[in-house]
Amino acid sequence: MKIAIGNDHVAIDMKNEIKLYLENKGYEVINVGTDSTERFNYPVSGFKVGKMVAENKADLGILICGTGVGIGLAANKVHGIRCVTCSDPYTAKLSKEHNNTNILSFGARVIGIETAKMIVDEWLNAKFEGGRHQNRIDMLKEIEETQNLSE
Ligand code: RB5
Repeated sequence: MKIAIGNDHVAIDMKNEIKLYLENKGYEVINVGTDSTERFNYPVSGFKVGKMVAENKADLGILICGTGVGIGLAANKVHGIRCVTCSDPYTAKLSKEHNNTNILSFGARVIGIETAKMIVDEWLNAKFEGGRHQNRIDMLKEIEETQNLSE
């Protein structure tokens, strides 16, 4: 499984720790975030990871900025991306089971590294349940593609 990872200047340490954590578990991790402490605009990494996932160059994506919000918003602007920004393992798990999220984002200024690892584990180990949830995802796609919803 290939995971694209991206970050801004406030999340370099957490990005590196999560990357190593995942590599030690056997995941291939592609780093497209910044490794410099110079100010860096989070939409750049959010967009890069979003595009990689949308174009199947990565299976899933992980994004980290100060809050996880800006970088997650950027990813969600890419068609086909469902990015969850969260600070707890329960939301991470359910976001995969029900919403089939393909990118996870969180904030290096919001949670500690152990919580981040727990969130990542729950999210990666969860499986999309399909069924009635697929119908709702189809509705999200309709909104994205047509800016309309037939219900
Ligand atoms: C950078 O100062 C900060 O705005 C960014 O890391 C992130 O929290 C934005 O959502």
